Amino acid sequence: MKKILFVTSEAHPLIKTGGLADVSGSLPKALAEQGIDVRIIMPKYQAIKTTEQIYYKSTVRVNNADANLLETRLPGTEVIVWLVDYPEFFNLPGNPYVDENGDPWTNSAERFALFCRIAVEVAMNRSYLNWTPDIIHCNDWQSGLVPALLSLESNHPATVFTIHNLAYQGLFPKATHASLNLPSQLWNSNGVEFNGMLSFLKGGLAYSDRITTVSPTYAREIQTADFGYGLEGLLSYRKDGLTGIINGIDTENWNPETDPNISVHFDFSTLNKKLFNKTALQNKHSLPVDNNIPVFALVSRLVEQKGIELVLDCLPEMLTLPLQCVLHGVGDKSFEQQLNNFARAYPDKMAITIGYDEGLAHLLEAGADIFLMPSLFEPCGLNQIYSLRYGTVPIVRKTGGLADTVVDTLPETLNNKTATGFVFDEATSGTLMEAIKRALIVYNQPEIWKQLQTCGMHKDYSWNKSAKEYMALYELL
Ligand code: ADP
Ligand code: GLC
Repeated sequence: MKKILFVTSEAHPLIKTGGLADVSGSLPKALAEQGIDVRIIMPKYQAIKTTEQIYYKSTVRVNNADANLLETRLPGTEVIVWLVDYPEFFNLPGNPYVDENGDPWTNSAERFALFCRIAVEVAMNRSYLNWTPDIIHCNDWQSGLVPALLSLESNHPATVFTIHNLAYQGLFPKATHASLNLPSQLWNSNGVEFNGMLSFLKGGLAYSDRITTVSPTYAREIQTADFGYGLEGLLSYRKDGLTGIINGIDTENWNPETDPNISVHFDFSTLNKKLFNKTALQNKHSLPVDNNIPVFALVSRLVEQKGIELVLDCLPEMLTLPLQCVLHGVGDKSFEQQLNNFARAYPDKMAITIGYDEGLAHLLEAGADIFLMPSLFEPCGLNQIYSLRYGTVPIVRKTGGLADTVVDTLPETLNNKTATGFVFDEATSGTLMEAIKRALIVYNQPEIWKQLQTCGMHKDYSWNKSAKEYMALYELL
């Protein structure tokens, strides 16, 4: 049985800021169901929530620091999770990346370097856990130093590095390389050095045996200058070892037939019951209760990546049309404020709640008619998949995983019953507005609308297929 150490900075339901947590909470579970011995390692943040027991396992010394390794289970599963307990870095209010005021941790490099060093000790079976993994599966920049440091060990396990988002690179001044006491062999242009800076991400990209990213389209996009952030050269050089594997979803957690966060359960054969959730959503946001008016939803980190600017540009025109908008998210203060201003000016048409609320995210998926996801880039994207599963028709930009998961509504895709949403290409408010208008026209043709909803709901979004692709990759190593 293959033994995989899954290195991540967040995993649902222990702690989550975005899709990485969804994947880290569901892929290992799917792999375990296929008979893989997979264990997760992540920092023990103060904000971790669990009802599972947590046990002390060992104390490991790295770079003159003693960290404890604690053991627990991924809630509701048998998957073992090792928590790196170093209170000075992690037992603080805030989330993995920002402090309680929302400001990025000033010692992120130290925090994740320590985390990576401990992961290396576990990988090399030097941490008294009595377990030797075959493969170390790293995720995003926070784990990027793991393949780099392992490359200096003899007889080290094979490494896979998954890019969930190339925009976050873990870039620090050159001096940080020395202050972290990192081996000098790693500092070169084929190593962790990137334009004179220390790049954690590049440690993962340069030294891992295989690179994956979370959709086939994003795998191609990141080899171009528009999406590669200067790493396109390295990524195309490594293209034979680079695969795009689309994310699956946790079909238990995101299931309109059993979801405890929604008002009334439904499936494709009882789609009319979805309306109760629409009513609940309208009530909750003090919007006029109206079954017939199309409700647009957006749940997102409010950052540039998500195309919030396009939405802001469309809102003046959108809000003259017969529709309602319900938005939920947190992020860039200026986006929050501008969206709030619209909601205040049009209280009968638009509502926004700023914050992070998991239950509300589920209710929005269940109650809305249309989901907006006009991302400028999107490695995979999970919300459009949740939307499809909840009969909420997505409007997406043709990029990354959005392009790979949503089929545009066109005469031929309606005829062959593959259409599931609305896809636009150019990143302009004009093209987004056009897609919105196309959606409104089809919304007013209930039979066709229902076809879109049911086509989306019928697809298989489970991890079955993608987990097998990861397993095939592990086999190659
Ligand atoms: P990303 O990881 O880039 O943020 P994804 O679409 O992959 O984008 O995943 C986002 C995940 O985070 C989804 O599960 C989504 O429901 C959730 N999410 C984002 N913002 C919020 C929020 N404000 N409240 C609750 N859940 C949120
Ligand atoms: C990142 C990406 C998102 C992806 C998620 C999980 O946060 O922005 O597109 O779905 O990781 O892989």
